Amino acid sequence: MSLKKAAFAVRDNAYAPYSKFHVGAAIRSASGAVFVGCNVENAAYPEGTCAEAGAIAAMIAAGETRITDVYVAAGGPMLITPCGGCRQKLAEFSNGDVIVQMGTTSGLENEMRMDALLPGAFGAGHMEE
Ligand code: THU
Repeated sequence: MSLKKAAFAVRDNAYAPYSKFHVGAAIRSASGAVFVGCNVENAAYPEGTCAEAGAIAAMIAAGETRITDVYVAAGGPMLITPCGGCRQKLAEFSNGDVIVQMGTTSGLENEMRMDALLPGAFGAGHMEE
């Protein structure tokens, strides 16, 4: 299944009764496997998690740590763009040239490299002595 199809399919399972903004994310890892996640909100609003975080958690749980491609699917009148926290989470497991595709139910589509989404990303290298 394509990343796009996987992202839109998992979006159907988003639990977003508060924002009503449903998001799906699909990640391809170095082995070629695809991992998906959707946003999961909570009555205690800050406890909700983003779609990207869910897909990353699934990848890590499966024993993989390198992302090669990402697709984020949402509704709304504008293209979605991963939130700041998700950019940092994606950067942990991506090189700067990883492409993040974004799409909407209305057919808008765009893509950006990770190093454009999060220039100057803080990473493990910054903590080396
Ligand atoms: N959301 C995501 O899942 N991913 C993003 O990149 C942006 C925002 C979710 C969080 C919340 O459940 C809803 O969209 C509205 O912010």
